[in-house]
Amino acid sequence: MERLDAFMARAAALYYAQRAGLGRDFTTAPEMSQAFGECLGLWCAVTWQAMGAPARVVWAELGPGRGTLMADALRAVREVAPGFAAAAEIHLVETSPLLREAQARRLAAAWHARFEEIPPGPMILLANEFFDALPIRQFVRRVEGWRERWVEGGRFVELPCAHAGEAPEGSIREWGEAAEALAGAIGARLAREGGAALVLDYGPAESGFGDTLQALRDNAPADPLGPPGEADLTAHVDFAALARAGRAAGAATHGPLPMGLFLQRLGLMARSAMLARAAPAQAGSILAAAQRLVAAEGMGRLFKALALAHPGLPIPAGFEG
Ligand SMILES: C[S@@+](CC[C@H](N)C(=O)[O-])C[C@H]1O[C@@H](n2cnc3c(N)ncnc32)[C@H](O)[C@@H]1O
Repeated sequence: MERLDAFMARAAALYYAQRAGLGRDFTTAPEMSQAFGECLGLWCAVTWQAMGAPARVVWAELGPGRGTLMADALRAVREVAPGFAAAAEIHLVETSPLLREAQARRLAAAWHARFEEIPPGPMILLANEFFDALPIRQFVRRVEGWRERWVEGGRFVELPCAHAGEAPEGSIREWGEAAEALAGAIGARLAREGGAALVLDYGPAESGFGDTLQALRDNAPADPLGPPGEADLTAHVDFAALARAGRAAGAATHGPLPMGLFLQRLGLMARSAMLARAAPAQAGSILAAAQRLVAAEGMGRLFKALALAHPGLPIPAGFEG
């Protein structure tokens, strides 16, 4: 028997080591549109300028998948912000050997298994659809009190626990303990050494109740408690909790904002229109992808953007107002 977070961690390690079905089981924003990575690259360049344009800056990404986001971002900044491109030292946090290989085909970088291994210094960090892959814990309110969910033989088992708080019977509370610890570590580093982090992921702006654990295989829902490693397991990111953890560690936080609004403020639609004009044969699919990223009924509302930053930095691009 394993506690749910231990089961999820084991399943994720197996999944990303053996299958890593990016594009087959699920699709992410950078795989849909090159404008996504380009706009985030410009966000990083503007942030670097606001940091006083340090001669050396750690440019890090958590869970870079196929390396598409960073490759698009790098191409954009080489063109419009060569000073930042020259100062940036790319560090990728990736545990999957399969995906490290894919990233190495596109990027010259240093690789790390954990955020804590990134060398010190001012940092600009990106994390797209990384936090949703981190293990969560789940608590269920029963008449006798709260019970924590463990996993045995593909089923949940509920065990007594120390969770507290009032809620109607049957309520489910999730706790992204690992995600909060990481947000705290990022916040502490930014407060100490300078820089900013941009987290893009799916989940609510406010903490709430409900079971959001899900599994995808071949772009269709699968059983989250099925054989570990065969499907991609994720859960909603609790952005309010991440922001609290970042602030408690000394960082300033900005957002969360709906991702659609954030991307529009960064100029994603204008950039997509430019790309469509340059490639008329693909114009329909380029504009449809951009629309899916920003539209409320697509990814524009459920996905959020949250920034953690050194408290001395101005409000990061896209978060004003
Ligand atoms: C859903 S994919 C997102 C990929 C990419 N960011 C994108 O938007 O296309 C999750 C990524 O995080 C990596 N990953 C998952 N759990 C991890 C962990 N605990 N430590 C380091 N990397 C992890 C995966 O190998 C993969 O690269």
